[in-house]
Amino acid sequence: MSENPSILHRLFSLEGKVALITGAGGGIGRVLAVALAEAGAAVGLNDLTLARLEEPHRMVEEVGGYAVMLPADLASVDACHKLVADACAALERLDVLVNCAVVNRRKPIEMVTQDDFDTILAVNLRSIFFLCQAAHPIMRAQGGGKIINVGSINSSYGLGTVSVYGATKGAVAQVTKVMAVEWAKDNVQVNCLSPGFTLTPLSEKSIWADEHKSQWLRDRIPVRRPAKPEEMVGAILLMASPASSYMTGETLVVDGGFLAGGSWEG
Ligand SMILES: NC(=O)c1ccc[n+]([C@@H]2O[C@H](COP(=O)([O-])OP(=O)(O)OC[C@H]3O[C@@H](n4cnc5c(N)ncnc54)[C@H](O)[C@@H]3O)[C@@H](O)[C@H]2O)c1
Repeated sequence: MSENPSILHRLFSLEGKVALITGAGGGIGRVLAVALAEAGAAVGLNDLTLARLEEPHRMVEEVGGYAVMLPADLASVDACHKLVADACAALERLDVLVNCAVVNRRKPIEMVTQDDFDTILAVNLRSIFFLCQAAHPIMRAQGGGKIINVGSINSSYGLGTVSVYGATKGAVAQVTKVMAVEWAKDNVQVNCLSPGFTLTPLSEKSIWADEHKSQWLRDRIPVRRPAKPEEMVGAILLMASPASSYMTGETLVVDGGFLAGGSWEG
């Protein structure tokens, strides 16, 4: 521990802060929501439906945190603006925005329909852009804030059947940089978390239960296993807290070494 017992609290506590997290019903989002609450933030939980938010809401309450459920379909730009307004109305301020909602439809390029393309772009990229746009003036008026956009190793790694999703994730990492540049003067830090392959209820069925994909991944990931959602918490707390006051426009990759490379030595 540090010689100064208050330094960790001063740098990492979110007491008195308000965080809004989208996709909070998902495998990673719900764990991040609990962590933000445990760090002291009151949390606005967004997902498509109330039903998807009941479990994460209960999880936050179980750790003694406070959360409100704010269901909204972020494929609509109006809903993005309304979500930020509703979060502020319910929780009275907005200090941290975590953009975690996502859709993916894994298909070879020749099978991708216009609806696939438009839906994936609307949820994974457009909603992030307009949520950030709506949050920025509120954070500026409060004297600062933190935005964390969730990318993916597909922000930079091309994986077969994830063309449109990968394009949105690349764009998320890029637009994070421009937001960081434009809003640095307002003390709003904007960063991107890029998780590697993470074991969630969704990926368990679609990836890890598939013997071929699972074996390829275990061979390819240097640590030889998927991430647990809670292995994203350290990065999120860094990017959500005063500890990252000089860090902006960065993409933090948490991937068990996947993007570092591979070895032919077995
Ligand atoms: N799980 C992984 O292996 C992995 C790897 C890299 C990056 N990521 C990223 O981490 C984040 C969380 O992923 P996850 O694995 O928890 O996914 P998930 O599918 O479990 O959760 C995503 C959530 O977003 C919600 N959502 C979808 N469309 C929405 C909409 N229109 N409006 C509001 N909410 C909507 C879903 O209902 C779901 O609860 C995503 O940004 C994802 O791209 C995940």
